[in-house]
Amino acid sequence: MKLLIAMGNEPVRSALMRELQGLDHVEAVYECGDSDTAIREAEELNPDVVLMATDLQPDDGFETVRKIIGRVPGVSAVLIAVNPAPADFRRALQVGARDLLEIPVNRKDLIGALESAAEISRGKRNALQGIAAQIVNQKTPKIAKRIVVFSTKGGTGKTFVSTNLAAGLAAQGKRVALVDLDLQFGDAAIALGLVPQRTIYDLVQSYAEFDVTLLEEFMVRHSSGLSVLPAPLYPDESEKITVEDVQRVLEVIQTGYDYVVIDTPPFFEERILVALDWADNVLLVAGLDIPSVKHLKTVFRTMGLMAYPEEKLFIVMNRADSKVGLDVAEVERHLGRRVKTTISSSVEVPRALNAGEILILAKPNTKVSHEMSALVKSFISGDGPAPAVKLGETGGGRGLFRGR
Ligand SMILES: Nc1ncnc2c1ncn2[C@@H]1O[C@H](COP(=O)(O)OP(=O)(O)OP(=O)(O)O)[C@@H](O)[C@H]1O
Ligand SMILES: [Mg+2]
Repeated sequence: MKLLIAMGNEPVRSALMRELQGLDHVEAVYECGDSDTAIREAEELNPDVVLMATDLQPDDGFETVRKIIGRVPGVSAVLIAVNPAPADFRRALQVGARDLLEIPVNRKDLIGALESAAEISRGKRNALQGIAAQIVNQKTPKIAKRIVVFSTKGGTGKTFVSTNLAAGLAAQGKRVALVDLDLQFGDAAIALGLVPQRTIYDLVQSYAEFDVTLLEEFMVRHSSGLSVLPAPLYPDESEKITVEDVQRVLEVIQTGYDYVVIDTPPFFEERILVALDWADNVLLVAGLDIPSVKHLKTVFRTMGLMAYPEEKLFIVMNRADSKVGLDVAEVERHLGRRVKTTISSSVEVPRALNAGEILILAKPNTKVSHEMSALVKSFISGDGPAPAVKLGETGGGRGLFRGR
């Protein structure tokens, strides 16, 4: 405990100091002889306990205790007096002191009173810390789980996966936004059967600064509850969207939702790198063919060169049951990495995409929908599917790439 002794009588004060200084639980003892210094030092030193003579000057000990308790959060006070009157005990309690000791006081009573005062101070301070932490937590805006669906190869199923994942999460009652960052040829809105009126282009052209409420005016609502920020309607509008525009959209949108899912074009570019950096999880969609595996290898190597945290990367093997020459085990061997998430091939997928229907919602009982639902659930219950760890590694695959 940190202790401050305030007492006008110098010889008694020195005797108390000697008594208390070397004690086990006593970290520091400060002293002063008048009430003004006592209040100042209590505020500066933030002691756990103040031990105060009742006959302090110019304010008496009672008044000084009252002021110190009002100004120093969590402090406890013990008063000490020669020949205290019965009324003094009552007054001590009224000003908030824990105890009133009588001089001469025996060592055991003195230490006992100070320790129990320190104990109370600790309890009060812990409670205050808890309240402070709660306030801080309330002030920090909630940040969405950020999922980017990516592959450098075209047509692997990014739009199918991102739209079904986003709508699937929304259908579970989560607040979800889908941003179509395939800025030139994005078709996420079409896949959802939506007709966009306004797009990301209109947003960034109209406003240099915006908040989530304003951003939402540029989004379209899907029947699942999902909000979609569509890609520009015309390809040439894409070029006018800057890296900073994308950065701002992502920073703002993450504060308004439980999940933000991003659909992407089939290539690396600056605006996509921004999204990849921003993401908590990157789902790399691939197929069971050699070009797909080559693309995936390049993605891993490129992201390794960028020192990208490995545990953010997940492989989603789409059309994993296709009989096209490779099987999942062979792909794993080629990649040197585990593939934990697979989605079957089904004619229902293009059928739903063409009809603007979300398969996972329109036909929840198909095999593909069950597999997509498992992906949705993995994000609801935790951090998504198992990361794409290297073969031979079992767990979370922490740490940076070692390059290959
Ligand atoms: N599991 C699947 N089974 C059958 N067909 C699928 C499956 N996944 C995707 N497809 C079909 O493959 C085509 C490409 O899918 P999608 O548009 O989702 O890919 P993409 O990666 O977004 O393409 P792009 O790179 O052009 O944006 C679509 O016609 C879709 O219906
Ligand atoms: Mg697409």
